[in-house]
Order: sequence, then C-alpha cells, then structure tokens
Amino acid sequence: MRILGTGSALPAHTLTNDDLSKFLDTSDEWIRTHTGIRSRQVITDETLLQLAARAANAALENAGLVAADIDYILASSVLPDTITPSLGCLLQAEIGADCPALDVNAACAGFLYALDLADALTVSGKAQRVLVVCAEGMTRMVDWTDRSTCVLFGDGAGAAVVDGGEGGLMATLLTSQGDATHLNMYPDPGNSPFATCRVPARALHMDGPEIYKFAVSHSVSDLRAVCEKAGVSLNDIDHFLLHQANRRIIDAARARLKQPIEKFPMNVEVRGNTSSASVPILLDEVNRAGRLHAGDKLAMSAFGAGLTTGACVLTWTKE
Ligand code: ACO
Repeated sequence: MRILGTGSALPAHTLTNDDLSKFLDTSDEWIRTHTGIRSRQVITDETLLQLAARAANAALENAGLVAADIDYILASSVLPDTITPSLGCLLQAEIGADCPALDVNAACAGFLYALDLADALTVSGKAQRVLVVCAEGMTRMVDWTDRSTCVLFGDGAGAAVVDGGEGGLMATLLTSQGDATHLNMYPDPGNSPFATCRVPARALHMDGPEIYKFAVSHSVSDLRAVCEKAGVSLNDIDHFLLHQANRRIIDAARARLKQPIEKFPMNVEVRGNTSSASVPILLDEVNRAGRLHAGDKLAMSAFGAGLTTGACVLTWTKE
C-alpha cells in the first residue's frame, strides 16, 4: 500500500493560551511549559463534515485523482456531527464519490487503525484506492471549566489517499486494552423507561499523569517493535511522526529512542491535540513543506482512549 496524496483542513478561529487564561485559572506559561502548546484552531461555525471534505479534496488533488477514482472511504472520528449516518457516508456524497464508506473509532490511534484497514482492503482486492479521512472536534467534547483537559485540544481534519501499489507500507502494529478507567467520555444515556442502569453523561475525562506514562512507554515500545517487524533499525527512519498530544511526551520518547530532534517534525505548538487527525495533519504539513523525498522511511505512532495504540513504518513513494 502506498500513500498517493495527503490533505488537511483547520477551523478558522485561533485560540491562544492568553485567550484561555481570560476565563480559566491557567496561564500561557503553565500551558507552554507543561504541554508545548501555544495556540490551537477551534471549531466555531464549521461542521466536521466540512473540514473532512476540505481535507479529502486536498488529498485527492495532491494525489492527482478525483472523487470518482476512490472505491472505499474510511472516516475516523471520536464524535462525528451525527452518530448515524456515519461521517464517512455523508462525506462520500459531499465530495461526489460513489463507493462504500464507514467510520472507524480507535480514539487518537484512529489514523493508524484506518491505514491498516485500508491496507487490508487493497491486499484483499476489495478496493484499489481508499480515502482515509480523520476529522475531530475535540473542543466539542471537553468540559470548558476543566483546565486540566480543555487547554490540551484543538480541532481539524487530515486525509490520505492510498492505493495497493508495491513498496510503501512495511509494517503496522495495533494494540488495545479495553480499559476506560483513565480516559473516557459518556454520552447522554437516553430516556428508555426500561433501562435500570443509566451512566450519567460526562464530558471527556482524563487522568493526565497516567496517560502520560502510558503514552511515553507505549510510543517507545511500539516504535521499536514496528521497526523490528519492518526489518529496519530506528536509525534507518528519516521521519518519526508521533501523535501531537504533548511536546514533553514526544521529547521523552525521542530521548529513549536516542534519535535526533530533526527527525521529529512537530506542530503541537500551534495545533494542540487533534486526536486521530493529529498524525495525518502533521503528515500533510510535512509533505507540503517538501520535507519528504521518495525513498524516505517514515515511522508513525499514536495512542488514545481504550487504551489503543497504533504504529507503522512505510517508505515514502511519492516523488
Ligand atoms: N493551568 C494551570 N495549572 C494546571 C492546569 C492548567 N491548565 N492543569 C492542571 N494544572 C495544575 C493541577 O491542578 C496540578 O496542581 P496541584 O499540584 O496543585 O494539584 C498541577 O497543575 C500539576 O498537574 P499534573 O496533572 O500533575 O500536571 P502534569 O505535569 O502531569 O501535566 C498534562 C498535565 C499536561 C495533562 C500531562 O499529564 C499530560 O500531557 N498527560 C497526557 C495527556 C495526553 O497525552 N492526552 C492525550 C491522550 S488522549 C487523546 O488524545 C484524546
């Protein structure tokens, strides 16, 4: 499986740390030193569907394709505009494609899970070209009175068009633990007169220090394992694209992997954590900045609620 094109889209409104400190007991200094985040883009009047469509169209254009060339759409979102129909289904009509579409929810690891599924579709011959789109509105999920979570997130969409050509994807690694203890969000429980147990609705809840420890140790072990699976050494990797949750997590993982900072492109400073859109947005920015060259080896890694993790190694085949 090869990546043919990438795209991304961000909401127009920029929210700075100083903006946050006007209504929260926080400061630019605390947020910058604890997370590396300075600002993030947040949804005002945009829909996730609009962001997903902009990212998808940009990826199609970057691939030199049109929507009619796509024969499967995989959309990743923790909380789409509509629970049903799926974001992928609506996106299919929005961009003018005519193919099956469905949503994937593997939290912040969603891009890696969707890429793995896209690979399976192309290997099985069920699809030749797959559009993977991750669109997230995390700022619609957090409690804006909870300074320990709401300062961390931003919104956006990232996309990649892939096909079944040789020479791209070398290995993937996916894990999940089935544990909601440290990171969760509960929806409105509904009003069924028959339900005897209703879990009250709750905004995104996170035990930051627990997730921090998990994130560092798993990013490191996943990247080591996926490189071994791909038959390459860490030193062979030209670009490590890690989930942009917190600069300190990336720095700690990088130090343990003993790799130079130049290999770790980052945008967390101006994007915040955009959940599953984080890695594909970064990939698109790096691609469009001309930093990727045919033959480069990329390693990607993400972690999120579940707790889920995903990692892959691929060769960049695009000229
Ligand atoms: N402003 C000021 N003070 C704050 C803020 C804030 N925004 N948030 C927390 N604090 C305070 C706390 O109340 C605490 O005060 P106390 O010592 O008086 O109790 C103090 O700062 C330290 O809090 P910690 O939670 O221990 O701070 P820490 O250094 O661990 O940083 C952080 C918190 C940034 C959340 C860190 O733990 C982290 O990055 N964890 C991982 C989070 C993550 O990666 N999530 C993404 C995965 S899930 C997903 O992507 C959807």
